[in-house]
Amino acid sequence: MLDTHLTVRTDSPIGTISPRLYGHFAEHLGRCCYDGLWLGTEQTLVPTYGGFRKDVVDALKAMPVPLLRWPGGCYADHYHWRDGIGERVRRLGLSCGLQVEDDNTLGTHEFMALCRLLGAEPYLAGNMGSGSVQELCDWVEYCNSGLNTSLAAERVANGARKPFDVKLWGVGNENWGCGGNYDAETYAREYRRYATMLRHVDTTIELVACGQEDEWNLKFLQTNQRWLNLMDHLSIHRYWIHGGPELNFTDEQYYGLLSEADETEDFVKRTADYVMDALGTSSHRIGIALDEWGVWHPEARAWGPDGAELHREPITYEQAGTLRDALSIGVTLEGFHHQCNVLTLANLAQIVNVLHAPVMTDGAAMWVTPSYYALQLHLPHIGAEALPVDVTHGATMPGSSKGVSAVTATASSTEAGVAVTLVNRHISEGASVVVNVAGMSRVANAGLLAGDSPRAVNSAQDPDCVKVAPLNVGADGAGLWRIELPAHSMATVQLA
Ligand code: AHR
Repeated sequence: MLDTHLTVRTDSPIGTISPRLYGHFAEHLGRCCYDGLWLGTEQTLVPTYGGFRKDVVDALKAMPVPLLRWPGGCYADHYHWRDGIGERVRRLGLSCGLQVEDDNTLGTHEFMALCRLLGAEPYLAGNMGSGSVQELCDWVEYCNSGLNTSLAAERVANGARKPFDVKLWGVGNENWGCGGNYDAETYAREYRRYATMLRHVDTTIELVACGQEDEWNLKFLQTNQRWLNLMDHLSIHRYWIHGGPELNFTDEQYYGLLSEADETEDFVKRTADYVMDALGTSSHRIGIALDEWGVWHPEARAWGPDGAELHREPITYEQAGTLRDALSIGVTLEGFHHQCNVLTLANLAQIVNVLHAPVMTDGAAMWVTPSYYALQLHLPHIGAEALPVDVTHGATMPGSSKGVSAVTATASSTEAGVAVTLVNRHISEGASVVVNVAGMSRVANAGLLAGDSPRAVNSAQDPDCVKVAPLNVGADGAGLWRIELPAHSMATVQLA
């Protein structure tokens, strides 16, 4: 049994945890948008809200989904928004090596309706790869203009009297790769042109530039040094691909995935440092947009160094989501909270069926993955003030070269009290944890996500194998709370 002592520093808030850090990503890829979210208005087998699966929407609402990025991904750089308004155009749906028939019945108006249903802020990824500056300017005008222009009138005629007022616009996606194979300098110049023209159309929008790894980011920032005010967020992506098989991973691979998840924070911080250096004394702010993140198991991909031979044919980008994947979410969110002053938005990839999905469907069946519960356990932190948590006593996670504690936690405060989410990363040892939180007098709520094995999954046949259960919290007095965490588990305690 691991003996761990944690102290929540209630007097040293880090910053506000923006709801945008709990964003999601819906791409026209595999069965994410079509089938997972959108069934259309003509079928009658599965109940829908105007074409969106009711069961999926209801589950997502309760997760929740504060921000939703669409329509890609790589798909965005082939997407022509006019195909998805009024009379629909059937076009090749192209993303990640797949070629499908896309009837474009899920277009701009439908996506906005989905955001309204979910209570999500929309984030549109624009086409730089095969589109034009004018095409993207027109999409912004169509969505956001309240003036009497032909484009705005067309939006009204298509059913939306009020502008959609979309704030977040991505200028391309992964333009160093699928979005045009640009080099950093060429993308930087192209970005400048797009951003200048887009800002003329709507001065209130926030523009997201495409970043990558360190070298690209540095070159991009240097090339655009004089025009940094044309950028509000720099996008980076992080997929963990070294965790071995989705289900039959070894103990070493278990810890490997959690370590990769941990390093996501370092990547965010490093990128933020480059941005700070580039900005120097400027008062302009550029946030880091981690607008795709999560685990990408070898079964779901045909690329990557580890286990590519395990991929399933045909490639669907679907994978089993285990309790291990859920714990990796907890680990990553700890980092998001630490970096909440520089990380301005983040989108788990992807929202239904594809990659690190919290919700899965199969015909009329719908179930949620352990990762869904991991996100839901973090609900009390959304919009709260992040608090530092010190590990004052505890064992190190096996295999951690950085000396990371086996039990870690993140905390936040609101007027209602303090919430603490803990992760016991140890694969086989339970933990007896004492958490010191000053000034709280009672437990308002406590839930535990645990399972017999870190390889446990939910499925259509066994949807409740892994789910949140009530947790007993002992009060030792003087602000000390005692929690027993099983091996490979996560818990949230809300104190009032
Ligand atoms: O999420 C799947 C793909 O991963 C996205 O389309 C792309 O941006 C990334 O490479």
